[in-house]
Amino acid sequence: MDYKKPVAQALHETLKEDLSYDEIYSLLEKPKMAAHGDLAFPTFSLAKLYRKSPAQIAGDLKESVTAPIIKDSETVGPYLNFFLDKTLISREVLNEVLDQKDKYGSHTIGENKNVPVDMSSPNIAKPMSLGHLRSTVIGNSLSEIFTKMGYNTIKINHIGDWGTQFGKLIVAYKRWGHEEEVRANPISELLRLYVKFHAEAETDIELENEGRLWFRKLEEGNEEAWELWTWFREESLKEFKKIYTRLNISFDSYSGEAFYNDKMDKVIDLLEEKNLLSVNRGAHIVDLDKYNLNPALIKKSDGATLYITRDLAAAFYRKENYNFAHSLYVVGQEQSNHFNQLKAVLKEMGYDWADDIHHIPFGLITQGGRKLSTRKGQVVLLEEVLNEAVEQAKKQINEKNPEIENKDEIAEQVGVGAVVFHDLKNDRLNSFDFTIEEVVQFEGETGPYVQYTRARGMSILRKAGQMTFDPADTYSLTDEYSWDVIKLIQEMPEAVMRAYNKFEPSVIAKHAISLAQAFNRFYANVRVLDEHEEKNSRLALVYAVTEVIKEDLRLLGVQSPNQM
Ligand code: ARG
Repeated sequence: MDYKKPVAQALHETLKEDLSYDEIYSLLEKPKMAAHGDLAFPTFSLAKLYRKSPAQIAGDLKESVTAPIIKDSETVGPYLNFFLDKTLISREVLNEVLDQKDKYGSHTIGENKNVPVDMSSPNIAKPMSLGHLRSTVIGNSLSEIFTKMGYNTIKINHIGDWGTQFGKLIVAYKRWGHEEEVRANPISELLRLYVKFHAEAETDIELENEGRLWFRKLEEGNEEAWELWTWFREESLKEFKKIYTRLNISFDSYSGEAFYNDKMDKVIDLLEEKNLLSVNRGAHIVDLDKYNLNPALIKKSDGATLYITRDLAAAFYRKENYNFAHSLYVVGQEQSNHFNQLKAVLKEMGYDWADDIHHIPFGLITQGGRKLSTRKGQVVLLEEVLNEAVEQAKKQINEKNPEIENKDEIAEQVGVGAVVFHDLKNDRLNSFDFTIEEVVQFEGETGPYVQYTRARGMSILRKAGQMTFDPADTYSLTDEYSWDVIKLIQEMPEAVMRAYNKFEPSVIAKHAISLAQAFNRFYANVRVLDEHEEKNSRLALVYAVTEVIKEDLRLLGVQSPNQM
């Protein structure tokens, strides 16, 4: 239940002539201090019209604005503050959660329209980087959030499996590689070869040429080149999928850059037809001066296509196949220029749907303050990060709850959950320095803390022997701790909406943390299991909290163990 609505309605009755319902609704805010009421209406915007001071207006309104849900109102300077009927609201909020369960907080504005989410998209023959991990978990969470808004999302892993670097890799493999070694440790061996290529190329200038030659062969379908490439790709995907399985994330499509090989000519023809291509020293470019951007390089002088050429083909493919309402690209902010160019080229071509393309950038993860370079072989192995986190989780569980069943499964959910939550709890644009100690923390505002709070709620319900609650019952909660919890439960649908509007999973993570904190304060101060006339209502509140936290976590891609 959104209690802003009946209050806005009541204000609207009085202010009909001067402010619309929507204006009033958006003006209503939460007072800074809970002692000042549950909602505050600022009157500044009416001062000019009424030729009165805001404080006077607030005073006048106090008399005329009434509604069953409003218990009391009070003027605080230019604000009119409302105290609401907590019993009524808690009952309605609880009934809603008990009735809707995991559907609580859903919206229908997506109307089942398609939203492709381009996410993860690592490059084959290289380890998945921390940046790709960010893209994976942010993309997955956004996909869940968009689904909750009523959209149909399509998770696309736009694998980086094409480009001149594969010519280089083939050369390196032919010179220094061994089949058994690649089979045994595909990615680290391919990475070793790639790094070696760059080291050797510093002195051996022929290598670069040879690399270009082999990429050309690959493009022309040369059998040897093609076989090697296919093999590198398959081995790499196998490794990536191990990480996805652990993260519990699946994709609807693995069509990467190579998939667009035979779809680029069409784009180039179209650009030509529209007279947008110009030739500069043999290269084909689209001038983007009027967008204040560098020209987009579509085709090199040797005929090779580029990253952006494939992305143009992909954009058309997605529009044709999904007729998307929005198309999301969850890719680091260092590629902002690329996506600006992509959108600008589409705009130049006259396609308005370019505006529905959203690059969702995120901040860089550094280590020791520095950016890691795969070219120099500096990588953090994600599997090791996850293993370490799970180890820590196991230690904690052994201390707190050694008798627990399915210890390994729970440790996996907690350890992996810690890594994912850590990535999502701050604004996505924030950069952060990666240290394993920081990522696998269990105290404070962390995933395990939220999971633990929910598991505690579950254990209260188990102790009470009550796991189901009738949504039609009359629940009544009157204490202030319950009220704080109720308010946060009530805010969840709004949090989903905000996360969606801002493409920002951290809104959900922050909501989960606040709810967990409020619940722990409630549990520390209110005797839930004691015989009391509100006992059933308190238990219903515990149940509602476990449901809402579970749903928050699910939207983040974090699991909720029932015990830990
Ligand atoms: N493979 C690219 C990289 O690792 C990311 C691809 C993002 N998606 C896209 N459609 N460009 O930088």
